[in-house]
Amino acid sequence: MQKGLAKMKRTNYCGELSVSNVENKVVLMGWAAKNRDLGGVLFIDLRDRTGVVQLVINEQAGGEVFSLAESVRSEYVIGVEGIVKKRDPETVNKNIPTGEIEVIVSRLVIYSKSETPPFYIEEDIDTNEQVRLKYRYLDLRRPDMQKNIITRHKVCKIARDYFDSNGFLEIETPMLIKSTPEGARDYLVPSRVHRGSFYALPQSPQLYKQLLMVAGMDRYFQIARCFRDEDLRADRQPEFTQIDLEMSFVDIDDVISVNEGMIAEVFEKTIGVKVKTPFLRLTYKEAMDRFGSDKPDTRFGLELINLSEIAAGCGFKVFADAIASGGSVRAINAKGAADRLSRRDLDSLVDFVKIYRAKGLAWIVVTQDELKSPITKFFTQEEIQAILKKTDAAAGDVLLFVADKDNIVFDALGALRIEIAKRLDLIDKSRYNFLWVTDFPLLEYDDEQKKYVAIHHPFTCPFDEDIDKLDTNPLSVRAKAYDIILNGTELGGGSIRIHDRELQAKMLSLLGFSQEEAQERFGFLLEAFKYGTPPHGGMAYGLDRLVMLLTGSESIRDVMAFPKVQNASEPMSNAPDTVDKKQLMELGIKIRETQ
Ligand code: AMO
Ligand code: AMP
Repeated sequence: MQKGLAKMKRTNYCGELSVSNVENKVVLMGWAAKNRDLGGVLFIDLRDRTGVVQLVINEQAGGEVFSLAESVRSEYVIGVEGIVKKRDPETVNKNIPTGEIEVIVSRLVIYSKSETPPFYIEEDIDTNEQVRLKYRYLDLRRPDMQKNIITRHKVCKIARDYFDSNGFLEIETPMLIKSTPEGARDYLVPSRVHRGSFYALPQSPQLYKQLLMVAGMDRYFQIARCFRDEDLRADRQPEFTQIDLEMSFVDIDDVISVNEGMIAEVFEKTIGVKVKTPFLRLTYKEAMDRFGSDKPDTRFGLELINLSEIAAGCGFKVFADAIASGGSVRAINAKGAADRLSRRDLDSLVDFVKIYRAKGLAWIVVTQDELKSPITKFFTQEEIQAILKKTDAAAGDVLLFVADKDNIVFDALGALRIEIAKRLDLIDKSRYNFLWVTDFPLLEYDDEQKKYVAIHHPFTCPFDEDIDKLDTNPLSVRAKAYDIILNGTELGGGSIRIHDRELQAKMLSLLGFSQEEAQERFGFLLEAFKYGTPPHGGMAYGLDRLVMLLTGSESIRDVMAFPKVQNASEPMSNAPDTVDKKQLMELGIKIRETQ
């Protein structure tokens, strides 16, 4: 039976009480976290969204309250009335914000009972994530998860207020759309009315926000749900949220400066960190050359050193061949790591780079008297001296080399730098290193599909001075695209768009769309571009990633209320699931039993 609720009205949240409330009569509601029976006195920790407070129930207070309190178990939902009292100095609990007070209870109502939960409702549990997700409502009751969800709410609110005060309009775009390519597979929704036709769920609002610029909305933003049917990782979900924006009559610097303002505000108002703007900018080329990655973590050194000039024509065939076939030889100097990287460690690093398709990892350990290395024997004294000089090697250093095609060298050494930084504990976790990567190539060549593909997306504008090269040397064309990176994670990305119909059509043809296909897929955009299109550009952040980094979480799953697991299912509700035959019939769909 539901009882008591009408008679009691909550006056305070548990975690908000302090010595300033002493002698106040309060009504609190929440979950019983911990009970202790000290014979004649019961202590219950009462928990709500704001924290916990200690309740004291004395036997003398009246038989009924005491016996009711005795029946309260973990996770029972209760309401109490009582007086706030200052604790004796020796019973003050410094571990909780309300530790200087307690509430002496005079009335108690049990709203609902609870079975023993499958795991403790407290911080830092080591319960299997599958179980946590099956009982997500209990998992979300834990204080650390509540903090994450609250931070997420704050980020949305701050972003909304920021964009509002900068003249942006929040506009919703549809969920049931014609597919917008962002490079992943679409989730499809069958149409009942148009049998055999499908909507796609948006991979992003990309085309709609561009059409809103054609519509004269000038500045748009949206906290937009996006859907991409791709393999999941710690920072990737099939359904995720973007902070998405678009602006008219702007160039790269305008978009970047509005966004630096937003980031600075979010960091200051959520975690009190003042970030310094403007952020560092690296061209794509510089990022690759120095860090082997287009999302470099700059909280530590271990930068890549190009040794191709020295290695060209050297006696070590592996190096000389890599260069002769158009690749490079690059190295990392793990400064002072000689006594921390054993021979076994070096062997394991060789295996590590093989994950990234490197054929091997050569090394030189520099000691006071000698060079320990499997490769020095292949080099002349001059070559060795040149390598030591270029890598700034000193006694105690370990040099690590990869020779291969550039993309493999970058992948392998880019990942190795992070691995070594982790192993040697070189990463200062208190730092927030933002940077922009700019001047991306517009296109890359996909060997499997045998065609050019857009690195960002097909609507990204090439550099004005590179447009001529679209015909002669497409791979050398740079894009007006930019990514924002925080501590080695790609937080967001965007670009200045093509606003010229002819150039957009040319771009689509370069990407292998025939005129008919371009018309079929993007006809509505090309049509819109006939009627007066402002120059425009924008970007989108992964909200989940932003909150993950703000809260120091390991995975975006920890900052999403109801995420999916590795195989894209949702353990609590068991989605995806089969549907009734009748539903399928209506949609004209028949399921084949075998592939
Ligand atoms: P992009 O595809 O780079 O750009 O996506 C923008 C940001 O969204 C986040 N993100 C994801 N987060 C979680 N799970 C995923 N599966 C996932 N995929 C992407 C990343 C990424 O940086 N329309 C363009 C933006 C623009 O040009 O304005 C777009 O969607 O943090
Ligand atoms: P090998 O001549 O294969 O015995 O290799 C000699 C050393 O060079 C070993 O330490 C290998 O790990 C390393 N090595 C082999 N291939 C490469 C490569 N592509 N880049 C860097 N080092 C390599």
